[in-house]
Parts: sequence; C-alpha cells; structure tokens
Amino acid sequence: MKALVTGISGFVGSHMAEFLLARNVEVTGTIRHRSRMDHIRHLKDIRLMECELRDPFSVEHLLTEVKPDLIFHLAAQSFVPTSWNSPMDTITNNIGGQVNILEAVRKLGLPAKIQLACSSEQYGHVEPDEVPIKETNPLRPLSPYAVSKVCQEYLGYQYFKSYGLHIIPTRTFNHTGPRRGENFVTSNFSKQISDIEKGKKEPVIHVGNLTAKRDFTDVRDVVRAYWLALEKGEAGVTYNIASGTCYTIQEVLDLLLSYSHIQIEVKEDPARLRPSDVEILLGDYQRFHDRTGWKPEIPFEQTMQDLLNYWRAQP
Ligand code: GDD
Repeated sequence: MKALVTGISGFVGSHMAEFLLARNVEVTGTIRHRSRMDHIRHLKDIRLMECELRDPFSVEHLLTEVKPDLIFHLAAQSFVPTSWNSPMDTITNNIGGQVNILEAVRKLGLPAKIQLACSSEQYGHVEPDEVPIKETNPLRPLSPYAVSKVCQEYLGYQYFKSYGLHIIPTRTFNHTGPRRGENFVTSNFSKQISDIEKGKKEPVIHVGNLTAKRDFTDVRDVVRAYWLALEKGEAGVTYNIASGTCYTIQEVLDLLLSYSHIQIEVKEDPARLRPSDVEILLGDYQRFHDRTGWKPEIPFEQTMQDLLNYWRAQP
C-alpha cells in the first residue's frame, strides 16, 4: 500500500506519516524548498519529494512517479488570521493546489482514494439551535480561509460526480497536540507559559478573544480518523471529525495555567482580535462513527498536558 501525504512536514502531516509507517504503509510526502524539517527528521523511512502544488507540471510529475493508492491532502495555508492579511495567497494555495492534484489524478487515471482536509470553519456563523453541528448544517463561512475550504470540498464533490474520483472530504473541528504550530491558540498559550517558566519572558500571557467556543480533538485521534475515512468511508460523502465537546478559550487558558506553578497575568492584545470570529464550533460526529466506528480516545486534558510538555522540551 502506497500513501502520498501532502504537507508532510506540517503538524498533521508528521503525525499522519507516523501513523502510516506504524501500519507498514509506504509513505511519500511533499515538501517545498522552504519547508521546516523539524517534525519529520526522526522519520527515516519516508520518501520526500519537492513539489510546488500550485504548479500543475510539478504535481503531475509527482503523481506519475508515486502512483499512490491513498492520498491524504493536508497541505494548506491553515491559519485563519493569515487569510485576512493575504486572502489571495490563501485562495490560490488552497484551491489551486487541490485543483492540480485532482486534475493529475484524473488525467493519469489513478484509482487512488483521496481524503481532503476540509474544516469546521466552513460552518462559520452558527445559530444557537444548530449545535452540535451536523454535516447538513448550512455553510456560512466567515473568513477567506473558510471560503477556500468550502471551495476545496465542493471541488471534491464535483470531481466525484463528474469523473468518479474516490474522494472523501473530512470537516475536521479544531485539533491540537504536540508539534502544533505556535500561531494556533493552544500552542501559542502553551509556548508563552513555557517561555515564562524558562525565564525567557515576563510573567504576562497575551491573549485574543477568550469567549469563542471550540471543539478540540487530539491530532493522534484525527490521523486515525483520516485513515478510517479512506478505509471505510463512502466516496462523495462528507464527514465531521470532532470530539462532541466544546470549551471556551477562557477555559482552555485556565486549564493550561493550572498546569504551571507560576503566577501569570493575563492581558488582552487587540492585535489578536479578528475582523469576525466564529463564536461556537461544536461538532456532531455521529455520521462518521456509524460508518467507521471511530470515536476520539485521548482526553483533552491529556492533549493539553502533552502540548505544554512539548514546548517545555524545546530549546
Ligand atoms: N491563534 C490565536 N491566538 N487564537 C486566539 C488567541 C490567540 O492569542 N486568543 C484567543 N484566540 C481564539 C481565536 O479568536 C479563535 O476563536 C480560537 O481562539 C481558536 O483560534 P485558532 O487556534 O487560531 O484556530 P481557529 O479556530 O481559528 O482555526 C483552527 O481550526 C480550524 C477547524 O475549526 C485551525 O486549525 C484551522 O486550520 C482549522 O481548519
């Protein structure tokens, strides 16, 4: 069994590669010339190919070489605030990259099963009586990032319908764990706490909107879900991947602070507030559970502890 993981050097990509290697799957991953290799340096048995996903020739060459049975399409500009600062970059990266992959699979006639990393951000504005959110909920995206993910998913549907490609979009709610990029809230707070503990920073933690509610799943549960999506999921059907529980960001902050022995002052940083923030994301993963048996296994407290310890172990 051969798998292609786009964005293998990223947070989810590195965990996906570990999961696949443990199952004796042959793993090829895409990197770009400026990719940071820290997360995958320990993985000796993966094949890395330099590929610019926005370049159709580069992607066609990649797929001709690899001919994967499974494609986990994880590469993306995935930080919501960046999508307001550079909307066009997010749109061209996320949509253009995926068009090139689907086109190459179609042209080469590959029978690959393809998972698309779509997002709960696609739901955007959610009414109070719409939680927990089912896949049938209307999509009301609130950021260029969310719009790019809606488009990625619809392209997947279109290629499934038009050409019969075996495509499974996963709408994943927030996910975190060791190696989470330092921009994202759980990692950002953990890194700030760890820097304070190391004496690298004054005992003040800077925060943005603490009232938002998010549904967090451990990344190690998420990559297992992606595997099951391709093993057992129905082509052309979208699945929520979520924990079914949500926390305010204030609660996330309080939990992380409770793991530290230092007294830390909390300060709002206006630069961390967004033009529009999704108020609540709480997912219903029943459809995916019914199809695959998946449910999250790692408790949130464990994930947060592991994440904080990850930052504490960094130089
Ligand atoms: N990043 C960040 N930094 N967010 C903060 C901060 C802060 O200092 N303070 C409060 N927040 C709030 C944000 O306003 C948002 O409501 C929430 O914390 C989570 O922010 P992020 O961790 O940046 O994630 P996100 O919810 O915007 O998006 C993540 O989840 C999506 C799935 O729902 C990303 O992982 C996306 O790529 C993913 O698709």
